[in-house]
Amino acid sequence: MTDYNALNNQLHALIDGVPHKTANLANASALLYHTLDDLNWAGFYLMENGKLVLNAFQGKPACIEISVGKGVCGTAVAAKETQRVENVHLFPGHIACDSASNSEIVVPLFGKNGEVVGVLDIDSPMFARFDENDQAGLENFARIIEKVM
Ligand code: SME
Repeated sequence: MTDYNALNNQLHALIDGVPHKTANLANASALLYHTLDDLNWAGFYLMENGKLVLNAFQGKPACIEISVGKGVCGTAVAAKETQRVENVHLFPGHIACDSASNSEIVVPLFGKNGEVVGVLDIDSPMFARFDENDQAGLENFARIIEKVM
């Protein structure tokens, strides 16, 4: 089980006071990818002109643009809620960037006015890799990221 208190303390130490968004998102994705077990992708999409656009990540090359409402990421934006998907093959409209992915969690990132500014997306080759504990820990991770957006 991931120690999210330790992980989120590390994230805070890495990015606190660093005024470089891309560097912070790159370090955050590397921290996630190398701390959580059984991942094949971890990274960020940010809202640009009404669409999600690929940003810093670890894993295989991924699709560059995702429309709001499409796939797991676009659904998280439209719903303004975390999407925790035990089997991506059963998710209507799932976008398969890496055929190794079997489960996924997508956490929306919010701006100062409550608008969605992007998402944190994490994929696993395991089915049902992410539970309530992961969701709570990753939502706290997202709250720290929002401070440097
Ligand atoms: N599977 C995502 C697309 C992004 S990749 O997982 C990196 C989706 O359905 O939104």
